[in-house]
Amino acid sequence: MEFEHLIDKDINEAKQGEALSITKNENSTKKMYIESYGCQMNFSDSEIVASILTKEGFSTTSDISKADLVFVNTCSIREKAEKTVRKRLEFYNSIKRDKNKGMIVGVLGCMAERLKEKFLEEEKLVDIVVGPDAYRDLPALINQVEDGRKAVNVFLSLEETYADISPVRLGGNGVTAFVSITRGCDNMCTFCVVPYTRGRERSRNPESIIKECKQLVKDGYKEVTLLGQNVDSYLWYGGGAKKDFGKASIRAQKKSLTFAQLLDKIAKINPLLRIRFSTSNPQDMGLDVIDIMAKHDNICNYIHLPVQSGSSRILKLMNRGYDRKKYLNLIDNIKNRIPDCAISMDMITGFCSETKKDHQETLSLMDSVKYDYGYMFKYSERPNTPAQRNLNDDISEEIKQKRLVEIIERQIEHSLINMKKRVGNTYEVLIEGISKKSKNHFYGRTTHNATVVFEKENTNIGECVMVKIVDCTSATLIGKIS
Ligand code: 5AD
Ligand code: SF4
Repeated sequence: MEFEHLIDKDINEAKQGEALSITKNENSTKKMYIESYGCQMNFSDSEIVASILTKEGFSTTSDISKADLVFVNTCSIREKAEKTVRKRLEFYNSIKRDKNKGMIVGVLGCMAERLKEKFLEEEKLVDIVVGPDAYRDLPALINQVEDGRKAVNVFLSLEETYADISPVRLGGNGVTAFVSITRGCDNMCTFCVVPYTRGRERSRNPESIIKECKQLVKDGYKEVTLLGQNVDSYLWYGGGAKKDFGKASIRAQKKSLTFAQLLDKIAKINPLLRIRFSTSNPQDMGLDVIDIMAKHDNICNYIHLPVQSGSSRILKLMNRGYDRKKYLNLIDNIKNRIPDCAISMDMITGFCSETKKDHQETLSLMDSVKYDYGYMFKYSERPNTPAQRNLNDDISEEIKQKRLVEIIERQIEHSLINMKKRVGNTYEVLIEGISKKSKNHFYGRTTHNATVVFEKENTNIGECVMVKIVDCTSATLIGKIS
């Protein structure tokens, strides 16, 4: 289905359920298998987990039946994401029963944090439950299980950023890498479970971020994506939760570093290193960030700017901190300062009390912005969120679905218009890998995050090449090396 890439899939779910398959530490005896679901942050966290356990003598394997330890890094953002994990647990159960009796099964990430000890009651085969801030404790927790006890650590921290841990790059292409810069979220959007599963927002020491980026350059990487639930809110003042900034000394406050300043420093590391970031929040994205993007050629012209609804009434109920006018004003500022900046969004249909009129406002906002890409979802009520406690999930599944299809169809029209505009132009493309459909073709991305497929000719993965666009679909550009 042509719009499969747009349905119920965050930008972050692109590599859904991928198992990590590099085998390091060949001589070690213990093997771990890690599967990740959900956002890019989860994939990045799995690399931190792999790093912690590699130091303990574990090596990673892609063959679950040979694993001593199986981890699933989970997502709670929508009910569907949780159902997927439950199905995987059933699968692990069958492996444990039929092929690999001694294997230890651990649940990591947001679902572990949300369900805590309940997981052990509900899913009998689970041995370890570990929340996103407790991965340093994994070696001790594994020992506990080896001693015959179940193990849980779901402590949420105000400080943990894993700043000193060098992620083991797993399942990647050796060209693009994620670098985490903030953890948690303080925005408290009423529909969102993240503040409860990932805790308070905190920023990572810029020195460790820059060190990691420099190492990636040395290792041959060509692009980094700076990650956080809300990157624009980055604020380093010596460590600690963002909410405690006001309690820091005047000296620490004066020496603090914002996202725009961090971006400026990272862009200067190497002019050939491409920089992306995700996710931006409209209520926190400042003009200073847009100006820094405009200043540096190596910061990609692409902003993922989730809007969630085009209706100011719904945005207020969602506690998004902006209205339609403010959001459109931000879009104008981006377009004025960075001509040809691609913009994508996340949108939710059928949020509590959403009327036909609200839905029409969403469609009309989409018409005004004409997003390059979009990630669209039906509202899924999450336990213990402010929306679940204070609002009625009163839009029927049928209407949610009908509205979802309408916005997806509108987005496909807009994506196609934007892609067609690129036909005839020549763009610099960073080659990321071999096309899934043809081994004679590479795929890569333009600065706008548009995927381009083209014949390999004499080029190599990791190179930046100039490609002339000759054709397109709503999802892919087709080009020829020029
Ligand atoms: N229901 C549906 N979609 C949600 N998102 C977050 N919480 C929910 C929910 N309860 C979407 C938002 C967010 C993206 C990552 O997932 O659009 O930006
Ligand atoms: Fe959730 Fe809102 Fe934070 Fe995004 S900004 S993670 S939607 S609370």
